[in-house]
Amino acid sequence: MTATIIDGKAIGDELRREVAAGVQQRLDSGKSRPGLATVLVGENPASQVYVKSKQKACAEVGIESFGHELPRDASQAEVERLVTQLNADPAVNGILVQLPLPSGLDEEKILSAISIEKDVDGFHPINIGRLAQKGRDPLFVPCTPAGVMYMLEKEFPSLEGLNAVVLGRSNIVGMPVALLLVRANATVTICHSRTKNLPDVVRSADVLVAAVGKAEMVRKDWIKPGAVIIDVGINRVEDATKPRGYRLVGDVCFDEAAEVARAITPVPGGVGPLTIAMLLRNTLRAASLQDA
Ligand code: GUN
Repeated sequence: MTATIIDGKAIGDELRREVAAGVQQRLDSGKSRPGLATVLVGENPASQVYVKSKQKACAEVGIESFGHELPRDASQAEVERLVTQLNADPAVNGILVQLPLPSGLDEEKILSAISIEKDVDGFHPINIGRLAQKGRDPLFVPCTPAGVMYMLEKEFPSLEGLNAVVLGRSNIVGMPVALLLVRANATVTICHSRTKNLPDVVRSADVLVAAVGKAEMVRKDWIKPGAVIIDVGINRVEDATKPRGYRLVGDVCFDEAAEVARAITPVPGGVGPLTIAMLLRNTLRAASLQDA
């Protein structure tokens, strides 16, 4: 193996310590404790785990969290009413509506109902729209894409002119990552299920961000020697040797890629810890924006 392993846990821990210090500084200067409201609709097991870990992370840095759970059959009006109530609550600086929402709910309308000053996930259409436009700045950048960029900025003094390939075009990761890479002056190619000659396109990447949700899809011979790989995929594969009967792998075959790449994130322990750290950072920023 030749690649450096990018330690997301260590980078995330360092960011969390910075947020914790920022929270303490607010409290010392007589300002309010930052607050994050989480909204979970239904019982998606993965979403339950994610929301719980976000709440735990808040507690660890001194951010108050307010958990709101609605049943799977909650109406559009009920969810929007809750968001409106949280918009008006001065103890709530950030609002996170966990995605995906149960089918039947209008996600765009619910995300649009969040006050842009409290949109710590950065998914409000105005924040995403600003991200996509030259000369405009969103108030908040989505957390996983922000974490990906944070890691890349540690690996490269500049991304200018580099070939960046993004696998996946989701609203949560692929598309906002691609927009951020464009803003960093990379030359960006977005690949998806209809892309032709995918291995050839991936082989052009100095920077590869994989976010397709297909276990170990990217193989050794797809990778340009010396590339930096950020693997956002979290996929379960059966493994009878593990107590739970499965293990987690990324979208990139780690052992193979590590022989060719310059640096790579592991799964787990790569991007995941950065997502949560960025949410905490955005919540602290929301609180200070709302002081004014
Ligand atoms: N579902 C998967 N990732 C995310 C995220 O970053 N934020 C929200 N709200 N939902 C998600």
